[in-house]
Amino acid sequence: MTGIFSFPPLSLYIHWPFCKSKCPYCDFNSYVCDEIDHSVWRQAYLDEMRFYRKKTGLRRIVSVFFGGGTPSLMEPDTVAAILKEVDKLWGLPADTEITIEANPTSTEADKLREFRAAGVNRVSLGVQSLRDDALKKLGRKHSAAEALLAVKTASRIFDRYSFDLIYARPDQSVADWKQELGEAMEYAGGHLSLYQLTIEKGSVWYSLHRRGGLEIPDENAAADMYELTQEMMEKNGLPAYEISNHARIGEESRHNLVYWKYGDYAGIGPGAHGRLTIDGDKWATCAHKIPELWIKKVKSQGHGAHPFEFIDSFEYGREMLMMGLRLREGFLLDDFQKETKVSFQKFVHPQILRRLLDEVLLEVTDDRHIRATAAGRQRLNAVLAQLVSN
Ligand SMILES: C[S@@+](CC[C@H](N)C(=O)[O-])C[C@H]1O[C@@H](n2cnc3c(N)ncnc32)[C@H](O)[C@@H]1O
Ligand code: SF4
Repeated sequence: MTGIFSFPPLSLYIHWPFCKSKCPYCDFNSYVCDEIDHSVWRQAYLDEMRFYRKKTGLRRIVSVFFGGGTPSLMEPDTVAAILKEVDKLWGLPADTEITIEANPTSTEADKLREFRAAGVNRVSLGVQSLRDDALKKLGRKHSAAEALLAVKTASRIFDRYSFDLIYARPDQSVADWKQELGEAMEYAGGHLSLYQLTIEKGSVWYSLHRRGGLEIPDENAAADMYELTQEMMEKNGLPAYEISNHARIGEESRHNLVYWKYGDYAGIGPGAHGRLTIDGDKWATCAHKIPELWIKKVKSQGHGAHPFEFIDSFEYGREMLMMGLRLREGFLLDDFQKETKVSFQKFVHPQILRRLLDEVLLEVTDDRHIRATAAGRQRLNAVLAQLVSN
């Protein structure tokens, strides 16, 4: 039994790349496709998992996450077959967190029970807004009432459920968001993801915004909404454990914590990324993005991954700090040194570190964690840019 515990635990991310339509703000690796041969897709996921099993060796599985795209469009049988194969390849402990992202349309809500029967034990619904006019603008195919019904259905089927909202949307004031978030709280379970709208390069809204055709709240209003979000969530017992993620204590997404704590995960499916420790070295993995190409590669070589990229100790440190500072608790300075073989104080420019500490954007806690303060988390991108600039 020593073998399995001598390797780091492993999480699996399964990417389903299809959606019913493309939302104008979204730059995820997702495509609209009317003809999907589900049996081909099922086989390809199973094949690629077998490839990763050979690479990782036997590991303890901590979480499986079906993300997308819109994985609630998968056939429940495919989800069941994938989970059965995970069990066969690595073993699937009873306490594994198994999440599926779902769009809150009525047809997808109707499938939640089948996903539960397939082995899923947590659902994350993309509600985005509780206002019909905003949902229309966001290009969503569901109404607010339909989304809330899906949340209620999810709460009846799953002990653990979460939903996503986007704020700092076009035409939204701080007062509007306060009202909307207050309403959302009435439906919240143990977890909520609250994302500030980002205008993503490659999205339809990116070009519209550049042409002056999309007005969004200015930086100050967005910052006020962020602060209001922190206050309201804290008051309601779901403090932020990460920049955009809020949970009751113990209800944090274990899968996402693996990313932020820089653990090992295999990314399966088109465009999926992974980080794997193999023979003591850390490797970055990334699959072909285009669905047809990924399928073709899996058919011809058993996987759709590009050559793995070695992560040297500088890149290791850079990624560890960029992920770790997203967490409210930050990361342990001793872990940083153990993993990268360099002390944090030497890794970053001492003057920059001093300045960020003096400006109270970063702090070192009594138990030797380094973390971003509330003010630092609010402007985390700027803080990270300074830390990794040298
Ligand atoms: C993989 S996506 C979508 C999952 C699912 N297809 C859906 O739309 O409900 C996960 C979440 O990222 C958030 N998101 C996507 N694009 C965003 C953007 N440009 N700005 C802020 N949040 C975004 C949304 O809240 C979304 O639910
Ligand atoms: S937001 Fe979700 S449903 Fe919309 S295009 Fe992106 S992945 Fe698909």
